[in-house]
Formats: sequence, structure tokens, C-alpha cells
Amino acid sequence: MKAIVVTDPAAGIAGMTLTERPEPQAAINDVIVRIHASGFVPTEMEWPSTWTDRAGHDKTPSIPGHELAGVVSALGYGTTGLSVGQRVFGLADWHRDGTLAEYVAIEARNLAPLPGDVDFVVGASLPISGLTAWQGLFQHGRLQAGQTILAHGAAGAVGTMVTQLAREAGAYVIGTGRAADRDKALDFGAHEFVDLENDALEDVGAVDLVFDVIGGDVQRRSAALIKPGGTLVSVVGPVEARPDDGLAVDFVVEADRAELVEIVQRVRDGRLRTNIGDVANFDDAIGALNPTARRNGKTVIRVRP
Ligand SMILES: NC(=O)c1ccc[n+]([C@@H]2O[C@H](COP(=O)([O-])OP(=O)(O)OC[C@H]3O[C@@H](n4cnc5c(N)ncnc54)[C@H](OP(=O)(O)O)[C@@H]3O)[C@@H](O)[C@H]2O)c1
Repeated sequence: MKAIVVTDPAAGIAGMTLTERPEPQAAINDVIVRIHASGFVPTEMEWPSTWTDRAGHDKTPSIPGHELAGVVSALGYGTTGLSVGQRVFGLADWHRDGTLAEYVAIEARNLAPLPGDVDFVVGASLPISGLTAWQGLFQHGRLQAGQTILAHGAAGAVGTMVTQLAREAGAYVIGTGRAADRDKALDFGAHEFVDLENDALEDVGAVDLVFDVIGGDVQRRSAALIKPGGTLVSVVGPVEARPDDGLAVDFVVEADRAELVEIVQRVRDGRLRTNIGDVANFDDAIGALNPTARRNGKTVIRVRP
């Protein structure tokens, strides 16, 4: 099969090559998915799981990409809940070969059915951003209606999901980003917007929840804005600051079929819009994943035209 591989951590995205790899075999409880579209997170080249297996052994050449939408083509021993020919989407295991390939072997429980009226490109754009937003808001952030949330990077892939889901849940959403992000963040539902380059973050006042996709100084200043009993949720590594009287949580997104079903249902009925930037064909994928220009949403690779 055709796949994009990386072999050298120092080379980063520039070290990607499109090459031939053996087709994966289905292990117990796996399915094989014929991939139609794949998502990619630019920071994957920095993740240890891109380079080693769970035991820490070198696994290069490694296939990156962890979001997929496609069609089940085979079942492993003992696999239940999905069938050959079924449309699916989901989040692939971090330590196994990923989804920038024609086929992937993946545990069935990491996938959810993709309804026939949802395009594969849309399906592949949802798992990481959608699940990260869902888990950060509702599991780790325990967001309640009537609360105020500071949603950093509100025009980005995760931030647009955070903004929409928080607003739907009845929260007041203060989005942040660069000056150029204002219209997009407001269009995705933020009630107000803070330009981190020109406005004073401290002017927003006290908030119940900070959802941080930026880290560093932005995170440290945000922690000070959290009300007693509030929460800082970080998806950019270990928390660097803690609220005086609240919780600080960092986490890595997990696959969850029930949450994927909730997310895609919202896309179908218009409550949730995905934030897709560039869409590239597989043969042009490496160029699209290594852009010189600023990203404008999730880059999705159309593996099967
Ligand atoms: N832990 C997890 O499970 C998990 C899951 C998903 C994502 N993540 C991480 O979360 C981060 C965001 O992911 P994403 O896919 O949403 O990325 P994205 O689409 O690039 O969105 C990030 C947004 O934040 C803005 N931003 C970044 N730094 C800023 C700054 N200093 N001031 C103002 N705006 C700033 C970006 O603007 P510019 O493009 O102009 O910089 C962009 O609009 C990444 O580091 C990613 O690795 C973690």
C-alpha cells in the first residue's frame, strides 16, 4: 500500500516520504480500514509515540496521522460491533502506525459509524479536535450552563470546537487569538474576543474555566483569572500554572465511540461546524502538511479520491 513515513525525528515534517509499505494485519479486536481521508496534527513530529512503541523501542519507519474516515475492509479475530463495508471514523492509537496510508489496523472500539450523509473529509476532521474539546469541557472542565469560559486559540481547530460546544452547553464564551482571528472566532460563536497581541487579557475579569491550547505566559496569566472552584484545562503539556483556589488538569485526548457519535450527530443537525483549512490529495499531501503559510483550520488529506 502507499503510505507516508517518517524515519528521522530531527528532520520533522520535511523528512516525510510517500512510499510503499506492507498492508497492516488485523490483531484481536481490530478492524482494517480502507482510508478515504486522514487528519494530521502538526506537532506529531514532537510526540515520542511517533517514534517508539509502548515499550520505548524504535518503530521507524513510522506512519503518522491519527484521524481517519473510511470503510471497514476486514475484521480481526473476535472483533464485534462493526462490519465489513461499514463507513467509520475515529482516532487511531498513538503508538501504532497511523492513518496517512491506504489502510490502517485499528481497534474497533476507537471507531464510530460515520453516517452516509457525512463526507469522509468532514469525518476525518472531527476526531482529535472534537474529542479534545468534548473531554476538556465536560469531563475535565466540568462545564455547567451559566459559567464563563476563556477559550484560547478560538479560531483554531480545537478552539472552534470548544467555542461551539461550550456555547451550546449554555456557557458564556470569551475567545482569544491573534488580531486576524477575531471575525472567525466570533463567527464560530464566541460572545466576545480578546486579541492576545493587542488587548489586555486581564480585562476579561474572572472566569470559571480556561481551555488552553497555547501555554507559556498566556497560561500563567490565565490561571490568575480563574474564580475559586474553577478549572484550568491544558492540552499543551503539563500545566505550568495553577489557580490559587481551583483545579489544573492536563490531558491527552482519548478515543471514545459514544462521544464521536454525539459529535457527528451535532454536525449532521447543524449544531456543530467543522473547521477545515486545506484539503489535499494523497500524492500532494507532504507539501500540504509542510506549509510555509499560516494554517487556517484543520488540514485534511484525501487518501482515496
Ligand atoms: N493534548 C491533546 O490531546 C491535544 C489534542 C489536540 C491538540 N493539542 C494541541 O493543542 C494545540 C492547538 O491545536 P490546534 O489543532 O487547535 O491548532 P491550531 O488549529 O493551529 O489552533 C491554534 C490557534 O491558536 C492560535 N495561537 C497560538 N499561539 C498563539 C499566541 N501566542 N497568541 C495568539 N494566538 C495564538 C493559533 O494562531 P496561529 O496559527 O497564528 O499561531 C491558532 O489560531 C497544539 O499544540 C496541539 O498539539 C493537544
